[in-house]
Amino acid sequence: MAKRENFTSRAGFILSCIGAAVGLGNIWMFPYRLGQNGGAAFLIPYFIFVLILGSTGLITEFAFGRKFKGGSMTGIRTIFNEKNKKGGLLVGLIPVVGLAGVFMFYNVVVGWIMKYFSMSITGELFSIDVNTFFQGFAGSSETIIWDFIAIALTLIIVYVGVTKGIELINKIIMPALFIIFILLAIRSLTLPGAMEGVKYLLTPKWEFLFKANTWVMALGQAFFTVSLNGCGMVVYGSYMKKDFDIPRSALSTAILDTLAALLASFVIMPAVFAFKLDPMAGPPLLFITMPTIFKSMPGGSIIAIVFFLSLLFAAISSTINMLEGPVEALMSQTKFSRKKSAMIIAAITFILSIPLNLSMTTFDNFTNLITIIISPLAVLIVFFVFYYMYDNKKILEEINSGASKNFGNGFLKFAKYVFAIVTIIVIILGVMYGGIG
Ligand code: ALA
Repeated sequence: MAKRENFTSRAGFILSCIGAAVGLGNIWMFPYRLGQNGGAAFLIPYFIFVLILGSTGLITEFAFGRKFKGGSMTGIRTIFNEKNKKGGLLVGLIPVVGLAGVFMFYNVVVGWIMKYFSMSITGELFSIDVNTFFQGFAGSSETIIWDFIAIALTLIIVYVGVTKGIELINKIIMPALFIIFILLAIRSLTLPGAMEGVKYLLTPKWEFLFKANTWVMALGQAFFTVSLNGCGMVVYGSYMKKDFDIPRSALSTAILDTLAALLASFVIMPAVFAFKLDPMAGPPLLFITMPTIFKSMPGGSIIAIVFFLSLLFAAISSTINMLEGPVEALMSQTKFSRKKSAMIIAAITFILSIPLNLSMTTFDNFTNLITIIISPLAVLIVFFVFYYMYDNKKILEEINSGASKNFGNGFLKFAKYVFAIVTIIVIILGVMYGGIG
């Protein structure tokens, strides 16, 4: 078997993790949630959840991967074998299948973005009626080909490998993404009437802190945005060298992910308010509201291209991680090469995602199943297997290897009790509220 690859530099590792974390969750969910759930007041629960729980989740996933030099399938099976327990393969499959599921629905949307990116280049975006176009496009058979292109593009990067594919591409597109976001935010903030959008985002409505819904939304958003799913970040952690600082990498990922979400809010909401449009979440925001703005904005044709390109950067740096998870699992459990494994997983996920392209109801149900139940359950499995079935001293050694500050038993207690209980709450509330992720 080929030698296991590593991230060659700390910067490459952290940029790849930020790439995985910053995605559509930051751009099309966060700005809306911030405005809808109390403006600046929402930032309080959100910061608490992302910085404390998000970092704890990431530390755990990185350490789990690095300890067993493999994804969660490898770690779970090793621990089950050590304890002479059966069922490791089955339990280990849950995080992998969950992440493959995320990859499937996410690429449907990446396909839409590709279509809009291509229409902004050809100028077609400016001749269509954006309202009716999107209604006819989403759910149509045309989206299958765009989904295919999106998956193929991710496949190329994962096929090339960790160092020359994943690390290299993230080192280029993540800094580019932040620069584009800053430029777009300046453009948006200097539009006449933009301050209304700033007010919408930043006026704290403290009464929202007394609503359960605000906390639930912040919690679901925090888990999804840092890509906690028991698989993707475990795999990135497994490519980490022993002298990389796990806690610092986790915190940097959480902080830069939050920064990206805030920047995205200042790109989108000031422009939405400047053009007196309705702030809303999800598909209408990116595929109806933003194109409407580009149509009437000076320089809109160029800005549309840059905007959709930045969406592609954010999304593909996330889909790379979503594909790498299942690919690594297949490689580690078989003698298949990276190239073969990557092609198999890409082909299977593409074929299975065809129904998601054709029916928006199927798409919504599938997305909910994965984000509300499977992914948080997978996080819980990794926590349970690691902290409750494995030697806690060795876990601390792994977390502290290469770290500038040493963690002690307090962290273990927090992870074992607080984090685990909160994850269970995430699942229960997710089911009750019909979607928080
Ligand atoms: N964490 C990624 C996002 O926010 C999946 O979109």
